[in-house]
Amino acid sequence: MARKIVLAALVAGLAGAAAAWDDGPVPEPEPIGTMSELMIKLMYPASDAILYVESRAPTNEVEWNELQAQALLLAESANLIMMPSRVVGDADEWMRDARLMFDAGAAAYEAALEQDLEALIALNEQVYMSCVVCHRRTRPDYGRNYKRFEGPPVEALPPAGEAPPAEEAGAP
Ligand code: HEC
Repeated sequence: MARKIVLAALVAGLAGAAAAWDDGPVPEPEPIGTMSELMIKLMYPASDAILYVESRAPTNEVEWNELQAQALLLAESANLIMMPSRVVGDADEWMRDARLMFDAGAAAYEAALEQDLEALIALNEQVYMSCVVCHRRTRPDYGRNYKRFEGPPVEALPPAGEAPPAEEAGAP
């Protein structure tokens, strides 16, 4: 009896869903998060998983799975920011910059699938620079913070003994 009711409800539900699905304009991808939210909540932690892989190296299958997920998220985030409504500034340049992150993320995903720690470490610079290239171009307040793989301009260094601001210490 209970099963019949569940089945009836399911069929009715599906019929309703199908009706809704048939009606109206064909859905298109639609942004939910702002650019800033995507950066902070998706790309920043995903890229950190790669950038700090040497000190946080996975030690078992569960941890490798987590790292694979982060690398996949990094690569697929590039597709998210390539949505036409998300483009900032010149579209061609935006797409090329986003593609750098796509390539870095895809390579990291491949290396994570192979559980190749050395390859992941070797990809650090490519991942890091994929963030920096776009930020340099699109973020007006940006420019002096990106020194992990380049010699920092002397004036960008905090005075001895002072901790750098959070952004300089953290996100690319
Ligand atoms: C194709 C361009 C592009 C790429 C690639 C890119 N970013 Fe961004 N990022 C932006 C833009 C534009 C902003 C400014 C967003 C805003 O404030 O509206 C931003 C802002 C940020 C911020 C600051 C957000 C805030 O509100 O404080 C962080 C953190 C960040 N990005 C991390 C990353 C990381 C990590 C990567 C690389 C893995 C990356 N971004 C790659 C374009 C990009």
